[in-house]
Formats: sequence, C-alpha cells, structure tokens
Amino acid sequence: MSKIRILPDVVANRIAAGEVVERPASIVKECLENALDAQAHQIDLAVERGGKESIRIRDDGEGMTQDDAILAFERHATSKIRTAEELMAIQTFGFRGEALAAIGSVARVTLTTKLHGATSGTEVCLEGGKLRHVREVAAPGGTEILVRDLFFNLPARRKFLKTEATEAFHITNLVTHYALAHPQCGFTLQHNGRQVLAVTATTDLRARAYQLFGANMLDSLAPVEFAQGGIAVGGFVSRPHVQRTSRDGQYLFVNRRFVRDKLIGRALSDAYRNILPPGVFPAAMLFVEVPPDMVDVNVHPQKTEVRFRAPQQVLESIVTAVQQALGRSPHFAPFPAAATPPAHPSTTAATSPPTGPHSPSAPAVHAALQALAPPPVAVPASPGRNERQPPPFFTATPHPGAGSVSATPSTPTLPTPEPPDEAATRLHSILGGRPRTRCAGAARRAHPTRPTSEPHPPDGRRTDVRILGQIHDSYIVAADADGLLLIDQHVAHERILFEQRVRALLARDVLVQMLLTPLVVDLSPAQATVFDALESELEAAGFRTTRLAGRTVAVQGVPADLGAEDAKTLLTELLDALASEQQTVSREHFLRELAASLACRAAIKVNMNLTPEKMTWLVDELFQCAQPTNCPHGRPVILRFDMSLIERGFKRT
Ligand SMILES: Nc1ncnc2c1ncn2[C@@H]1O[C@H](COP(=O)(O)OP(=O)(O)OP(=O)(O)O)[C@@H](O)[C@H]1O
Ligand SMILES: [Mg+2]
Repeated sequence: MSKIRILPDVVANRIAAGEVVERPASIVKECLENALDAQAHQIDLAVERGGKESIRIRDDGEGMTQDDAILAFERHATSKIRTAEELMAIQTFGFRGEALAAIGSVARVTLTTKLHGATSGTEVCLEGGKLRHVREVAAPGGTEILVRDLFFNLPARRKFLKTEATEAFHITNLVTHYALAHPQCGFTLQHNGRQVLAVTATTDLRARAYQLFGANMLDSLAPVEFAQGGIAVGGFVSRPHVQRTSRDGQYLFVNRRFVRDKLIGRALSDAYRNILPPGVFPAAMLFVEVPPDMVDVNVHPQKTEVRFRAPQQVLESIVTAVQQALGRSPHFAPFPAAATPPAHPSTTAATSPPTGPHSPSAPAVHAALQALAPPPVAVPASPGRNERQPPPFFTATPHPGAGSVSATPSTPTLPTPEPPDEAATRLHSILGGRPRTRCAGAARRAHPTRPTSEPHPPDGRRTDVRILGQIHDSYIVAADADGLLLIDQHVAHERILFEQRVRALLARDVLVQMLLTPLVVDLSPAQATVFDALESELEAAGFRTTRLAGRTVAVQGVPADLGAEDAKTLLTELLDALASEQQTVSREHFLRELAASLACRAAIKVNMNLTPEKMTWLVDELFQCAQPTNCPHGRPVILRFDMSLIERGFKRT
C-alpha cells in the first residue's frame, strides 16, 4: 500500500525553501535521516573520494513499494506529514518531501528498495532529475541508495566542492553525530574501501560514546541529567581539566536532531564561565529534548537550525543542567605528567570489528573522530533487535525512588526527589527508563535560574581530606582515600571568596566605604558605554559614582574591602573586559566578573606560610564550594596524583 502523498500547495508553500544539497555530506545527512525515519536498525555507508564519486547508503528499514519508490523522487512527496498543522509538531526527521527530489536532480541515483515481507523489490534509476528506468529486482528488505557523480550536470557547483579529505571529514563528522544520537542502531562507514567507523547496536548513549571514543574519554566526562518545565537536558560534558581550543568536541542535539545551534553553544559557555579560562571550550555530547510544539524545525532548508519558542528557558535549563553535572561529581585535574592515561582496558573491550579511526583513509577523517577523544574501543553488541524507542541517555538504574544517574559509578545517588513534573514524565523515555524527577539542585530553586547565581555546595561533598603540610609556602599537600592532592593556596582562597562575593552581591549585601576625596576616572568611549549600561549595578555592588562632564566619572564610594586605588584599577579593568566581549552584558555576568576581580585581589597569595589551622580552614571551606576544582579564571585549584599512578610509579602493579 502506498504511503507517500504529494503535499498540497498550501502546505508545500510553508516549508523552508532553499538549497538542500550543498555538498556530499548533505546527501549523507538526508539519507541517514530517511533510514532512521524508516526505523532502521543497521545503516551501512560506503563513500568514494569524499563522496564526490559515490555515496552508498543501505538500511534495513521498512522499505517502499514500487509506487512509493517512484513517487519518493517527486517534489513535496512525503509519507511524514499531511497537513499544515502537522508542521507544528514534527516527530520525524523528514517532513518536506524534498530531499530525494533534490538529490535526484543533481546526481545519478539508483534506489533499490523492498518492503519487508514482499516477494520482490524495485530499482529506480534517475539522472539529473530524469527517470531512466524502473524495474523489479531481487533485494533484501530495506532500502539502498547509490548516489554517483554529484553535480555532474552542474559543473560550476562541482568546482566548489572542497578536497576529498575535507568532504570526507564532514561525512565522518556527520555519521559520528548520528551514531551518537542513535545508539540502538548499528552504523558502519567506509571511505575508499577502508573502514572509518563501525559500531554495533547498543543500549544507551554511554555505551555508544564508549564505542566511538573509548574509555579514557568517558573518564573525563560528567553525566548530565536534568528535566524541568517541559525541557530535558541529558548527555555528557567534559570536566574542567579538558580544555579545547575549538568547539569541535561539542556534539549538540535538539530532539535527537543534529543542529548547529548558537544558543546551546552559548549556554555551554555560560555554564563554564568562571570554571574554564576565556578562549577555551569544553567538550560535550548534549541532548536537549523539548515537546515538538516548543521548537520549530522548519526554519532552514537543510534542517540544521531550529527556533525555540522559549529560548531563554532552554538556555537556563542547559546552564543549570551542566552546572549541576559539574558540581555533582567534582573532579580534580590530574598531574600533567600523569595525565597520559594507561592503555585501553582489555577486559571490557572487544569483540566487534575494528572500530573507527584506527585506520583512517585520510587525515581529515581521522580528525573528525578524534575531535572528542582518543581512539575508540569496540564493545560487544547488545543482543536482539532494537525496539525503536528513543534510547535512554543512560542505562536506567532499577532502584525505585531515586532520580537515577547511573552513568558513572562515582556519581553520588541523588537524594530522594520530589514527584516528577508532568514534562519530566513525558520525556522520561529519553532520560532512562523511568520518569526523571527534579533533582536536588533544581528542587532548591523555584524555577530554573542560573545555578551559579547562588552557588551551593553539592550534596555528599567529601570530608575525608587529611592535610599533610605545605610546600614552597604556596601549596597545601593533602591526601584522601584516592591518593595525593596538591592545592594551590591562592586560587583555592580565590574560589572561596568568589563564591562568597557572588552570594553577597546577588543579595545586595555590600558595605560601602565613602572616600574623603572622590576619585576621578576618565573613561574611553567603549568603557563609557558599558558604564552607562551598568550604572545601577555598580551602585548595588558598592560603587558610588557621579557622571561628570563628557566621559569623566567621579567615584565617591567603593566596596568596603577595596582600597581607593585598587577600586580605580578594578573599575577600569572590569569595564575593559566587559567592553571587549562586544555583547550585552547581563547583570549576573557583571556581578560574576566583579566578584572574580574582588576575590583575586583579596585572596591570600603564594609564598605565604600558613599555620595548620589556616590550612584546615581553607581546605574545609574549599570543599564547601559549588565548584572547588577551578578558580574563577579557570585555573585548576587541586591537582590529583591518583593511587593507581603512585602504585604504578613504584612498580607495584
Ligand atoms: N530509506 C528509506 N526507507 C523507506 N522509505 C523512504 C526512505 N527514504 C525515503 N523514503 C520515503 O520517501 C519519502 C520521500 O523522502 P524525502 O527524503 O524526499 O522526503 P521526507 O523524508 O519525507 O522529507 P525531507 O525532504 O524533509 O527529508 C519519504 O517520506 C519516505 O516515505
Ligand atoms: Mg527525508
């Protein structure tokens, strides 16, 4: 029976128009999405010369009848929506009925398909949009599409394709994204006959990330799990010692769609503000799930951008989710020399065919898979066929009553949560088998405000740290059950003061010291713009200022713990820093920058002898912090020398 229909004009006209096929990776994307929409459990890709010569994608999905196989190449022919209303709540990747028509018009295409259970299959051949032949063929259940000679009929566009390596990089990157988002589907990718990626169907994101990137990478990630107000955020983010120079290690999804979304990128940066230094980026595999009617996916011809109906709520949810994840399982940076991890464990590794980038056919292909992590280790396939449900982010813990975050053994179980809110229940299938409830951090706040605006020590914070002494009058040496810790006394104090100051500033609990003689500060035009925008905030933070003529400002009062000269330098430094960011500075951002500057000035310095009591106080206070691992400028506070490394050093293992 036919499933595909041509959309009426009123619907077709509402679909975001534009170029669908920009490069070989666009074809891979469309065909992968079609295969996933057709409930495939295994997708195999073979690409020649970066996809410029050929792309073959085979799936074991539901397949098509002969009528559908022909109709599929018509414009606006789709089985996925019927009416304009359905455009508002799209559940499938495809909805425009344009992809195959677009691909068929710019290449030589052969589609072979067979419905499961049918006696014979169909082969449809097109060249440059013209139907060449249709015939009955023997075929396995599912669909295979072979796309050759991309842009053979559009030489100008063919010329603009990038090198084979670059196009292969884009394809590998894309397949990696889809493989991450669909752990219950197996994927293989070959380039020029060599295997680039092979992952068997598995249970959840964690297992898939392990297949793709290996165990060492997982060790550097904190699991994220958050659901509130209709928005769920899950996945993994890197711990603060992972510092990357680009966003290449960020895999971002909205409703399991791979998107290039600035909002999520910005939320990630916001979440790491005062944890990572400026100019470096975290790695992440982040899945944002919202009800289909809260996101418009019909805004871009390649469907790589989305528009949220409540962007601020999404942004705040992501920031909260990520900061809770980092706070829940603080992780101390390893000693640089000890940071090279041991070889892959052989116990858990193994049986699948060689995975991923061990034998890349081009450096760029390698780079795509290396973007997040070291070489992968294969894990055994999970038995049985996939049930085609949104896979959970983590394997669910069968423990009743707990908001289960079971990805990392070291992750403390969250306290008994409140009853799940409606949205969390609706989204539970994604977050792991049972309704996800509001977790402790979220429960503390009435709504998802930025958690950093009110840092709280994570629950279950360790107290087993013993102080052993101080070296170089600068570093505290301590030990806990897992090994040796070195704590930089200056940045530790800076973190403590920073969190205190943020709390005080937000509560407007600030003492002002009036100056006998006002300070006169001449501002640059850029500084003056920021100053005007933040005048009331400066006042709330303890600065008493009057704008004199032009760009001159008189400062009559300063925060009590700041000397007059210090206040002048701090004020101009702060205005400069905020001006250089060239974006609207939020109140909270300003307060955090101010708190960071105040903390840095007031913190004890290195080269200062500390009594045991002072060290104990410092360490106790540090472990009460929401983010004890990094100073507000992103430097590590604590270095860990793990027991396993100590034992290896002494050749005991
Ligand atoms: N691999 C496949 N397996 C089964 N059916 C398929 C497959 N690929 C395409 N189809 C069918 O062909 C139709 C047309 O595919 P096409 O990709 O052109 O449009 P779409 O997926 O509906 O929307 P979009 O243009 O947004 O991708 C689909 O609606 C689907 O019914
Ligand atoms: Mg499609």
